[in-house]
Amino acid sequence: MSKNFFITTPIYYPSARPHMGHAYSSIVADFFARFKKIEGFNVFFLTGTDEHGQKIQRAAEKVNKKPLEFCDEISKTFKDLSKTLNLSNNEFIRTTEDRHHKSVQNLWNILEKKGEIYLSKYAGWYSVSDEAFYLEDEIEEINGVKTSKSSGSPVEWVEEESYFFKLSKWQDKLLDLYENNENFILPKSRKNEVVSFVKSGLKDLSVSRKSFTWGIQVPSNKDHVIYVWLDALTNYISALNYPNINDKLYKNFWPADLHMIGKDILRFHAVYWPAFLLAADLPTPKRIYGHGWILSGEEKMSKSKGNILDPIEIINEYGLDPLRYYLLKEVSFGNDGNISKDKLISCINSDLANNFGNLCQRVLAFTEKNISLKIPKPDRFNEEDLNILNNFSKNYQNLIDYINNQNINSYMNFIVDQMFLANKYFNDQEPWKKKNDIKRLNTIIYTSLELIRKISILLYPVIPNSSLEALSIFNVKETNLTINSIRNNEFLKPSMEINKINILFRKVLNND
Ligand code: MSP
Repeated sequence: MSKNFFITTPIYYPSARPHMGHAYSSIVADFFARFKKIEGFNVFFLTGTDEHGQKIQRAAEKVNKKPLEFCDEISKTFKDLSKTLNLSNNEFIRTTEDRHHKSVQNLWNILEKKGEIYLSKYAGWYSVSDEAFYLEDEIEEINGVKTSKSSGSPVEWVEEESYFFKLSKWQDKLLDLYENNENFILPKSRKNEVVSFVKSGLKDLSVSRKSFTWGIQVPSNKDHVIYVWLDALTNYISALNYPNINDKLYKNFWPADLHMIGKDILRFHAVYWPAFLLAADLPTPKRIYGHGWILSGEEKMSKSKGNILDPIEIINEYGLDPLRYYLLKEVSFGNDGNISKDKLISCINSDLANNFGNLCQRVLAFTEKNISLKIPKPDRFNEEDLNILNNFSKNYQNLIDYINNQNINSYMNFIVDQMFLANKYFNDQEPWKKKNDIKRLNTIIYTSLELIRKISILLYPVIPNSSLEALSIFNVKETNLTINSIRNNEFLKPSMEINKINILFRKVLNND
């Protein structure tokens, strides 16, 4: 089994500052990256910005800036956000980098040499906002404006010389790919959409533009820039040092294990991207997961609607880990979800402060007061102790399966249950009444500490800062964090010194 794992976020358009939707994709990808890391995988986690094309060129023109100068500024806000979100990414790629230019032009040359690209003329609808071509039956007129039915973005008529990629030729091979790799596209409902789109017949795809210049030139024809999606998708291999396919990064990490994307860009990832790769004789990614949208009220966030949720504002008010916890637990993964202040506050107060935070403080304070800040030596475990302690190793394979099937909600439910059960155990055992039975007292404290440790390990992908703070009780550092003790049902070593920690989560008053 390969121990490498390559996961990506979409690369974001630096046309405006990042919003909650971007934060969501990144947090979700970080969750999987961190779990795989503590599972023992060598993880490569990539994110970045998608900086070419008409959308960016127009956004820069609007504020009288050169496109690159404009991108430098906004790309930095995305890079800053990756730090604010505490992402564990290894790389942040910008498509304006030299290495990416080389990679895209190389891929283009291969496609051209293989006869997969030809020069013709495009006449049809184009949405600059989506950077997508639409067929007549994919658009509708709303208040006199021609609009894409799927995204709601306005479209404009384009007629110009263009290179085309022979997408139609790959229709059957794509259908084979979907059929032979059951989980290539998840969730299932999204797969069905893609399959019926491909079955309905693929047309060749326009892959160059002539009417503007902000992009990567077609190597053999300087009048054309390469279509921004062909450019953008290639980032996933540019970051692995493609075209050097003998490079260690490329060899270790391509094909990607998981492209985490929003459902809005599924067609590009599940149809165009594998088709380009098949045509260039390169391996296709293993999985594409299209998650739902974070809605603002009932609608998708967009600049034009003026309903943008700013992740930084929420983090400043409530903290990063509560936001991460909320998005991972409360959104039914794969479906749309929204941010409600009430639910966020209830997550902080009930799950994080009352349940997990309180468990840590209570058990630590009790340990210090009644024995000392040391792991006690347990006596024989009774059935109740063993039931709760063994719950983790018993569910190890389930947890791995949840992660491998992108079943975030079951993973979160397991943790919530364990937090509840651990608190209940401490209450039910009433260690404060066992002061005369030191063996039993030690066993209860030992069991409770062990539960805190295992829950904290599982919380690492969700709320890394708080998990590490809790694990500092046991002197566990991020560099040697693993889930092996869950797999092997290993417990704490008695007599090891432990540390007190600060209050993990403070309750929040709901002023509304
Ligand atoms: N640049 C392209 C992606 C190229 S990938 C090779 C792009 N960028 S984007 O900035 O418009 O959006 C990128 C991603 O942000 C979406 O696919 C989605 O993952 C995420 N989101 C943007 N708005 C969102 C919501 N309202 N909710 C959840 N995620 C959404 O498309």
